[in-house]
Amino acid sequence: MFWELKKRAYRVQHKVMKTASTIIPFPQPVLLTGPGSVKKLAENIRIRGLKNVLVVTDKVLMQLKLADGLLESLEQNDVNFTVFDDVKPNPTIESVEKGRKAYKKNKCDGIIGFGGGSPIDCAKIIGARISNPYLSVRRMKGLFRVFLPIPPFFCVPTTAGTGSETTVAAVITDAKTHEKFAISDLKLIPKIAVLDPELMKGLPPHITSTTGMDALTHAIEAYIGLNGTKFTDENAENATRLIFENLEKVYKKGSDLKARNNMALASFYAGAAFTRAYVGYVHAIAHNMGGLYGVPHGLANAIILPYVLEFCRKDAEKKLAKLAIAGGIGSKSESRKDLSYKFIKKVKTMNKNMKIPTFIKELKKKDIPLITKRALDEAHPDYPVPTIMTRQECEDLIKKLLP
Ligand SMILES: NC(=O)c1ccc[n+]([C@@H]2O[C@H](COP(=O)([O-])OP(=O)(O)OC[C@H]3O[C@@H](n4cnc5c(N)ncnc54)[C@H](O)[C@@H]3O)[C@@H](O)[C@H]2O)c1
Ligand SMILES: [Fe+2]
Repeated sequence: MFWELKKRAYRVQHKVMKTASTIIPFPQPVLLTGPGSVKKLAENIRIRGLKNVLVVTDKVLMQLKLADGLLESLEQNDVNFTVFDDVKPNPTIESVEKGRKAYKKNKCDGIIGFGGGSPIDCAKIIGARISNPYLSVRRMKGLFRVFLPIPPFFCVPTTAGTGSETTVAAVITDAKTHEKFAISDLKLIPKIAVLDPELMKGLPPHITSTTGMDALTHAIEAYIGLNGTKFTDENAENATRLIFENLEKVYKKGSDLKARNNMALASFYAGAAFTRAYVGYVHAIAHNMGGLYGVPHGLANAIILPYVLEFCRKDAEKKLAKLAIAGGIGSKSESRKDLSYKFIKKVKTMNKNMKIPTFIKELKKKDIPLITKRALDEAHPDYPVPTIMTRQECEDLIKKLLP
């Protein structure tokens, strides 16, 4: 009885959030797209009168010299820069604080997030801390807790991906508690996002596949959740179709520029969908795998996705069927039930073809109660999931992920 009332209360909150998301004016970043587009960013920064930007990236990308084109064009445009590359996957509060010091020491006036979701999210939170020095990173956890606007912020994703270049979110880990959490605020959406497929050509197959499955998870969770609108549905459908058509292609042949470009667009569309319509249990559980064990975000999502889809298949049947048709893997002549199963099968087949396992090798049985608690605390009541999970159902699902 109490549980039924609780579920009803969650649904009321979802309705309020849905109305809010149609009223809230989500800023859209200006897009620079296509091969070589990263070189156009510096000029746009100069025009805005900025003199000295902090480039937030990671050491792997610096070693690969991936940022060279951007840095050269900043020089050519007389924009000084400081590179801060102390960001690891699943970035930590410590990295944010180091980046904040680098910004202040070098008297920067803008920030570029260059890399996968990790440097981009770290850059967002560095910006939030710069403008709001009295708010700790923890204090900004949750929705709309960033008080003052961040410095001018630009994004260059090198994975496809998190969609962070268009989302309100930045995900960060507290290394002390191993808790991973999101800060979500309209002020974290960048002014300009660059979608340059040239930067993604060297992305290794295992990162290509898992980051691509992250984008697919965004599209699916936004689509099957109850808060989708025409805008988010269209974006999720486009993303799903592009991912079905291109992800395995780029996994096999990373240099396929057209397919890389399509994946960059798909990731952006999926980001546009989920930032308005939210994610679901896949993300809520995956964040714990990142926080507790350092499992890469996309890998965790890819593994968990089929289990969550199986759990909510009945309630999500209509939406899964529609997405199967939009994704080009089914036709209207098939029953909804068949289409929904076909969709889940497609996800499993993609995982299998890209050598993504069906379990999380780091997962320990003793941690399942804590993971369950944290995942449900994250998802309830914020995520408008098609089927609301009990604690027992969540534990049972996580058990299936054991090695
Ligand atoms: N803000 C959001 O809306 C949002 C959404 C989803 C996920 N996330 C967060 O983003 C983070 C994950 O980001 P990610 O999946 O993009 O990976 P990542 O940024 O953690 O990068 C993974 C690895 O790939 C390497 N790499 C990145 N681009 C490369 C390239 N072009 N060539 C070669 N190597 C490259 C990096 O150096 C790193 O070693 C997680 O913390 C996740 O929680 C944020
Ligand atoms: Fe994600």
